Amino acid sequence: MSDSFDLVVIGSGPGGYVCAIRAAQLGLKTACIEKDNTLGGTCLNVGCIPSKALLSVSEKFSHAEHDFAGLGIDVGKPKLDLKKMMTHKDKVVAANTQGISFLFKKNKVTHLVGTGSITAAGTVEVSGKDGKKTTVQAKNIVIATGSESTPLRGIEVDEKQIVTSTGALTLDKVPASLAVIGGGVIGLEMGTVWQRLGAKVTVIEFLDRVLPGMDMEVSKEMKKILGKQGMEFKLGTKVTGAETKKGKVTLTLEAANGGSAEKLEVETVLVAIGRRPYTAGLGLEKVGVNVDNRGVVEIDDHFQTNVPGIYAIGDVVRGPMLAHKAEDEGVVVAEIIAGQSGHINYDAIPGVVYTFPEAASVGKTEEQLKESGIPYKTGKFPFMANGRARAMAATDGFVKILAHAETDLVLGCHIVGPEAGTLIAEVVAVIEFGGSAEDIARICHAHPTLNETVKEAALAVDGRPIHI
Ligand code: FAD
Ligand code: NAI
Repeated sequence: MSDSFDLVVIGSGPGGYVCAIRAAQLGLKTACIEKDNTLGGTCLNVGCIPSKALLSVSEKFSHAEHDFAGLGIDVGKPKLDLKKMMTHKDKVVAANTQGISFLFKKNKVTHLVGTGSITAAGTVEVSGKDGKKTTVQAKNIVIATGSESTPLRGIEVDEKQIVTSTGALTLDKVPASLAVIGGGVIGLEMGTVWQRLGAKVTVIEFLDRVLPGMDMEVSKEMKKILGKQGMEFKLGTKVTGAETKKGKVTLTLEAANGGSAEKLEVETVLVAIGRRPYTAGLGLEKVGVNVDNRGVVEIDDHFQTNVPGIYAIGDVVRGPMLAHKAEDEGVVVAEIIAGQSGHINYDAIPGVVYTFPEAASVGKTEEQLKESGIPYKTGKFPFMANGRARAMAATDGFVKILAHAETDLVLGCHIVGPEAGTLIAEVVAVIEFGGSAEDIARICHAHPTLNETVKEAALAVDGRPIHI
């Protein structure tokens, strides 16, 4: 007799592992299947966590190199020990992935090692690396198999000279030059890491702007600031070919709308043009689960696919490919399966780019409001006018709050600045509670903090900022 579970989750990324833990908390007999050696998915192994480890330490390196002397700290030219930096990153990853194993044991989630394949509604086959197959019965199945990096036609990734984000996290030396194809989140974050450590970084972006999902003012400010840090941008440009030879890659570039070709010779190339849902080997066609033409698993408002009892969450379904979005969906789907009701407000999911300064965003962009004809007011406040930012010598950027012109409800907030990812949390909470710009303006904010910039931007919505 095969083992039988109330819920089998396929994939242990932030969507899958959080879903499994929440389901177990609710009393469901739960298993989580993972094909890789460690738990935690893209996020913990090759995504959020290792990239933030490298971003954090390379930021310290950059401050030591460029900023300390001006602040009266003379440490000379810092020397890079890349191996040690990578060891730090690896230790952070290990601590986090082992933490999930501990949480599975604590919550009595059964960890099944192998590749999960749905053979029929209610039945999942697990194939181990040794070729051994076991079958488990599942009253409910949650697909949380995540995403993989989108390939670029004509560019062969070898994860050494031409890398995806995964290879960019493990380079064994700083390349003299790095071409980044794609000026999105991965491109700017990983480009920043290697630029800080000494690479000459050129970002090649198809569109005429970086960070296309974000508010236009944020995109412009980020390009300006990163440009000052030494990053070069080739916007409105496409890569049409790559030739690899003797430690060099020669890229052929063309204007996005056609034109004469130019060559760019670099040591390393990072392909970061987006990610796509990963469903290989899951057996979706066999059980008849619908996916759209981009491979996105189709779900209803309760995360259920067209096959009853099979649900899907995280990067494999619609919406932003973000760890916290996957986690929240994991919680909600577990609660729905356990008979509770669940809901996610997709207008209150923050997005953060962890460069220095950071960029953070929640709710509608100004362009989206214009397009949908929603009347709005804008309040903007620069970090240059904030005492704490001046004290920290981190005055680049601004906070911009967008509020409804008639009701004053906060519709969006866009920040470029120090700790932007932390500052945005206040506005996320206000949006979630249906609050107004006036609410933020009337909340007491500690002084001197960066958060006062959010309050001043809220005051600026009504034309009454104090400090500018
Ligand atoms: P994943 O984390 O991709 O996990 C899916 C898991 O399923 C994997 O472990 C995979 O091995 C497993 N799996 C797949 N198929 C099977 C199968 N058939 N059987 C068994 N197991 C299977 N997001 C943020 O919010 N903040 C960040 O700072 C951030 N940084 C990122 C940096 C990088 C470099 C990258 C690549 C991504 C980053 N992301 C970030 C995005 C984030 O990692 C994803 O949104 C998140 O991991 C999605 O979670 P998930 O659970 O849907 O899938
Ligand atoms: P992305 O969608 O953020 O950016 C891809 C960029 O590549 C876009 O600007 C796009 O216009 C450009 N592009 C597409 N095709 C191109 C081509 N042929 N030539 C040149 N440019 C091209 O995707 P990215 O950066 O790969 O990240 C994938 C996902 O991972 C994102 O959805 C993001 O949400 C997530 N992520 C989140 C992070 C965070 O929250 N801090 C960090 C890293 C990744």
